Amino acid sequence: MNDIARPNQFSADVAVGQAALDAFWMPFTANRQYKSQPRLLARAEGMHYYTPEGRKLIDSAAGLWCVNAGHCRKPIVDAIAQAAGTLDFAPTFQMGHPLAFQLAETLVALAGKPFTQVFYTNSGSEAVDTALKMALAYHRARGEGQRTRLIGRERGYNGVGFGGMSTGGIVGNRKTFSGQMLPAVDHLPHTHDLAKNAFSRGQPAHGADRADELERLIALHDASTIAAVIVEPVAGSTGVLVPPVGYLQRLREITAKHGILLIFDEVITGFGRLGKPFGWQKLGVTPDLYTTAKGINSGTVPMGAVFAREGIYDALMQGPPTAMEFFHGYTYSAHPLACAAAIATQKLYADEGLLERASELEGYWADAVHSLRDARNVIDIRNIGLMGAVELASRDGAPGARAFEAHLKGFFEDDILLRVTGDIVALSPPLIVSKAQIDEIIGKLRTVLSKVD
Ligand SMILES: Cc1ncc(COP(=O)(O)O)c(C=O)c1O
Repeated sequence: MNDIARPNQFSADVAVGQAALDAFWMPFTANRQYKSQPRLLARAEGMHYYTPEGRKLIDSAAGLWCVNAGHCRKPIVDAIAQAAGTLDFAPTFQMGHPLAFQLAETLVALAGKPFTQVFYTNSGSEAVDTALKMALAYHRARGEGQRTRLIGRERGYNGVGFGGMSTGGIVGNRKTFSGQMLPAVDHLPHTHDLAKNAFSRGQPAHGADRADELERLIALHDASTIAAVIVEPVAGSTGVLVPPVGYLQRLREITAKHGILLIFDEVITGFGRLGKPFGWQKLGVTPDLYTTAKGINSGTVPMGAVFAREGIYDALMQGPPTAMEFFHGYTYSAHPLACAAAIATQKLYADEGLLERASELEGYWADAVHSLRDARNVIDIRNIGLMGAVELASRDGAPGARAFEAHLKGFFEDDILLRVTGDIVALSPPLIVSKAQIDEIIGKLRTVLSKVD
């Protein structure tokens, strides 16, 4: 057993020795590969990360789709520091603290009608499981407790709780646990259709009819057994799958017709990624519940929130007023630091117009991303708001290897943080990105791709 820290190639003050590397079981990471070739980020500011030895990397991924306001913004940092010294923790079970209510009012106002309540969680996965439980509780409260089935979508990512994993549609996340998925779940087909939609700018033209598969599932299971349909408005984690024109509208029509709740998983699309505060506002389709996290406080303190349409909370306000109405919550729901960070973040978004900025930049961004059409191995490019995807042909027998090599080269050779999923480079810069920085990101990506065979 090696318990003597062996300094790695990075500077001594942020040294991470072998024992430390071994001790951290890293999430969604090829642990052995990473630990043979560590990629450390020690500091961040604005659009950039800095490695321990001081190399400056441009962040093309807003960390992990979350740092929408840019890194280490002073108003947010100050608010967190102040909260930590004022109210380190307060329970929100049968108690409350002012920041939690103030933030709720701000968020509900940002959503606008018909959304009237928010419920706090600490992550996107918790937000998804909360929304699914709300759907079940809502139907039960209205005397339709037999509505228990949940419909997700292939290639959907709804986090890693048992609910989100079950409704999600990523085989790698599911196969290990396949015997213990939620029992009553079915899936819509995904909307990715390279043959018809490759290199679409914005919403692709073909594929609205894939929503009609919901009618087939309803015919199979009967609408009276189905509680909710959950989809990401734009599937992010499986590579920015933009909904075909008319697709979400069709899902809305069918769910409304059959009394099924429509849940949007807006963990990525929430808070300005598409050029409006929320994705549903940009795409013109109003769900019944939607989940958020990440951008709620620009990724600074773990937090998520579920937004509920009017009538859902009210349906549960039954029984004696002293009885709890919804047996659900987390110790850290509405943690004071997370709330303080979110209030400061929302003010910063408003002061700097960041929630609309993706709309202003969308055309420039689309031109820039699509300029990579002739880059090496590229088979598709997609974009919406400030999201983009560059899909590469997979190597025979080694799916994901080509894009992963791009990730490594980006980090070690070209000073860019690139997020890859399968053989797709998924781009989502902080919303403060300038046009010159967009050019820089695309230029670096082109260089990286030219080096990956
Ligand atoms: C759409 C969507 N839902 C849920 C999640 C899970 O969020 P978390 O990792 O905060 O649990 C993610 C994370 O990327 C996501 O993209």
